[in-house]
Amino acid sequence: MLKEMFGMAEGILQDLHNDHQEVAKLIDNIMESEDGGQRATLFKEMMTKLLAHSKAEATVLYAPMKKSDDEEVRSFALEGENEHTHVETQLKMMSAQRDKVGEKWTAELTVLKELVEHHVGEEEDTGFKCARAEFDKAELEKMGKRFETLKKKEMAAA
Ligand SMILES: [Fe+2]
Ligand SMILES: [Fe+2]
Repeated sequence: MLKEMFGMAEGILQDLHNDHQEVAKLIDNIMESEDGGQRATLFKEMMTKLLAHSKAEATVLYAPMKKSDDEEVRSFALEGENEHTHVETQLKMMSAQRDKVGEKWTAELTVLKELVEHHVGEEEDTGFKCARAEFDKAELEKMGKRFETLKKKEMAAA
């Protein structure tokens, strides 16, 4: 209720923001941990969430944006998809490495954090602005429901 009054309840945009915060927190928790087993467990959780988020987001938000009449909206979606690929590659490489406390893996974690922060920054700035211009509130609400359903399916299949 209060959220609606301040214009913050915008369906999928709120869902995406919540996930971004959750993933950022998990990455910080991994960084703070010095225990290999704990790092591996947290990494797996973060990777599952992040990949499910990215896939559902690409389907529900990026796909219609790519069909927009507005060039800025289309290029945002194309750039965003490209960044998803970089994040995914980084995650898979890190997942395959057994030593998750060594300097090498820790450096890769820093790179992952930077990639995610950069991507989320643009998404919440340019992407959200484009989405607000492209879709009305009712559409954003509907997209939020579709996003959550799809994300759950992705997580269950992971
Ligand atoms: Fe996102
Ligand atoms: Fe994204």
